[in-house]
Amino acid sequence: TNRAFTVAIDGPAAAGKGTVARALAAHFGFTHLDTGLLYRATGLRTLDGTDPVEAAKTLKAKDLEQDDLLRTPDVAQAASRVAALPEVRAALVDFQRAFARRSGGAVLDGRDIGTVICPDADVKLYVTASDEIRAQRRHNELVNKGHEVTLDEVAADLRSRDARDSARATAPLKPAADAVELDTSRMSIDEAVAAAIAETERRIAAKG
Ligand code: CDP
Ligand code: CDP
Repeated sequence: TNRAFTVAIDGPAAAGKGTVARALAAHFGFTHLDTGLLYRATGLRTLDGTDPVEAAKTLKAKDLEQDDLLRTPDVAQAASRVAALPEVRAALVDFQRAFARRSGGAVLDGRDIGTVICPDADVKLYVTASDEIRAQRRHNELVNKGHEVTLDEVAADLRSRDARDSARATAPLKPAADAVELDTSRMSIDEAVAAAIAETERRIAAKG
């Protein structure tokens, strides 16, 4: 078949999904979609009172370009709240599936890529790290970008989002049955990326 090659990367907040996804895409020449941005941009639009379903249905490319604003813990919380609404998720499915089918290969990272968006993905990775390490990494990242936020605030954001994302009825955070787990707690970025590349190489070879 000439079906496009798809890599699905899921996992809890700040596990290193995006870092691995970007590096994989660069290595193999695939395109990358950070699906969290869709929920973050939708969440941001609801902060001024816009209806979440309306916000998701009318999302524009330029809504995804406000990277620094979209990365704040307040917007992350808004994202997690709108992401629990089935109609919001439904409004974002077609865009993600169309992206996944792009010829030349695609990497998508999020929460439900291997379970709901791309259940037939060629590679499924479930990236994790301990709660403490994820909080430290995200805190470092935000402080380096100039955000004034404490480690406790970051840890609380990750904890509450992981709990909400795992407990929701529609497309909850969980590993696909056939996902390969990648615990990056004791891995450098280079080590995590090398493991993801090796798994992808295996799947490319198996596909022939
Ligand atoms: O980067 P981080 O892991 O902190 O968050 P993100 O991937 O940008 O996702 C932000 C929020 O969007 C998550 O907490 C989820 O509630 C939601 N999300 C989702 O429900 N499904 C996805 N495929 C991606 C994100
Ligand atoms: O996309 P997700 O929210 O899962 O995580 P990320 O934004 O890729 O990674 C969160 C932070 O951890 C980033 O600042 C990465 O540079 C860092 N990181 C790390 O220090 N070691 C790893 N093995 C992976 C990521």
